[in-house]
Amino acid sequence: IPVDIFDLVIFGGTGDLARRKILPGLYRRYLGGQMPADSRIIAAARSDMDDAGYREQVRAAIAEFVAADKRDPQVIEAFLSRIHYVAIDATGTAGWAQLKEMMRPDVVRAFYFSVAPALFGALAERLHDHAIAEPQSRIVVEKPFGRDLASARALNRVLAQHFAEEQIYRIDHYLGKETVQNLMAVRFANILFEPLWKAQYIDHVQITVAETVGVGGRGAYYDTSGAMRDMVQNHMMQLLCLIAMEPPYHFDPNAVRDEKLKVIRALDPVRPEDIVRGQYLAGGGQEGYVAHSGNPHSRTESYIAMKLHISNWRWKGTPFYLRTGKRLRARTSEIAITFREPPHSIFDDAEDWRENVLVIRLQPDEGINLKVMIKEPGPGGMRLTQVPLDMSFAEALGEEGRDIPDAYERLIMDVIRGNQTLFMRGDEVEAAWAWVDPIIDAWERRGDRPKGYEPGTSGPEDALMLMHRDGRRWREIR
Ligand code: BG6
Repeated sequence: IPVDIFDLVIFGGTGDLARRKILPGLYRRYLGGQMPADSRIIAAARSDMDDAGYREQVRAAIAEFVAADKRDPQVIEAFLSRIHYVAIDATGTAGWAQLKEMMRPDVVRAFYFSVAPALFGALAERLHDHAIAEPQSRIVVEKPFGRDLASARALNRVLAQHFAEEQIYRIDHYLGKETVQNLMAVRFANILFEPLWKAQYIDHVQITVAETVGVGGRGAYYDTSGAMRDMVQNHMMQLLCLIAMEPPYHFDPNAVRDEKLKVIRALDPVRPEDIVRGQYLAGGGQEGYVAHSGNPHSRTESYIAMKLHISNWRWKGTPFYLRTGKRLRARTSEIAITFREPPHSIFDDAEDWRENVLVIRLQPDEGINLKVMIKEPGPGGMRLTQVPLDMSFAEALGEEGRDIPDAYERLIMDVIRGNQTLFMRGDEVEAAWAWVDPIIDAWERRGDRPKGYEPGTSGPEDALMLMHRDGRRWREIR
């Protein structure tokens, strides 16, 4: 669906996120015919540069981050002609009059704050004071949205001084991933799953986001964050909400976000024995976490596994196990829903019985796999065996299934459309921090050290125990 003509201003236009994600994403949308020809991208940053100089940077970003078969020289030139640059002092006065001058009436205005959160206040204030932002304008803000409840509240307050909640788009790029949205389609567009989607029929849920990369390069930031703040408070929490929420009355921004908020509020505090933190060691010819973070005494976790309970009618009695970590065996993200045993078996062959499992693969090879029991083929009597009903989007949907837009490009287009469904609301972010804060406080008070784990494995041994002691097992990371 094409969008209205827009002017998108990217503060932090020379930064890493702009180069890797925002600009290549916008180029792909332009190529796909989704960015109206009259739209413009205005990059704003501190460096002194002209349009031509900045366009060269964008050209290089496209060469590096857009697949070769999508790089069409003519389209690239046309796209670059839509890009401008303005040197601006985020906390001073330089550049603001020029930016105002560049704004056009009657087009959608969006301002992407791809800068450190410490600058959010200054940007919001200047956009307002120079009358660059209008009541219909939108601002987009990146994570980390605070590092605890107090700082998240402070950020919300600062933004609220000049912008209404309907204008604020807090990005969690996991919500832009194809299969994450498919979670909602699977749950709410089929009659098949929802009747069973409750503690009575679901034994447990596993959510895994495993990465092979370490923190090299971003060690300084990461060491002040750790897996809990970097991944659990936002991405994992969003996945959990989409799995656990009640059906919203409509696929509408506030209806969806109201339901997610209720899930976060229903989370029990986590017991210390239900959390395992890990830190990757050196190995495989690569340095370990402490070298990457530059902090030999670091207690920051690069891995976390935890067991959660949601105290409401639907989920009481079904644990949710979450784990995420860096330098693990494989890059794989999935949600696995394990169903309970049938109430009574009519077959003698009980030891061959396996639970039904619904696996939703987020990346790579997006798809859905449902494990069901059937009769083992052949004349040997009634023996049971488990087979997968496996669907890879790439195979099932052909060209369309392979050409899945990146999370960022989809989310930026939603900003232009004015659709907040896939963005976090202020109260949601605060509720997530309110749940996270006491967990982090507790381990800081106790001076907990994360357990070392070998790179290329599935994390610390203790994480296996977290499930073993409940008579369950993590799925293999591969
Ligand atoms: C980011 C985290 O938000 O998400 C990174 O800060 C992490 O540490 C990344 O690597 C993972 O995103 P994706 O899309 O590669 O799964």
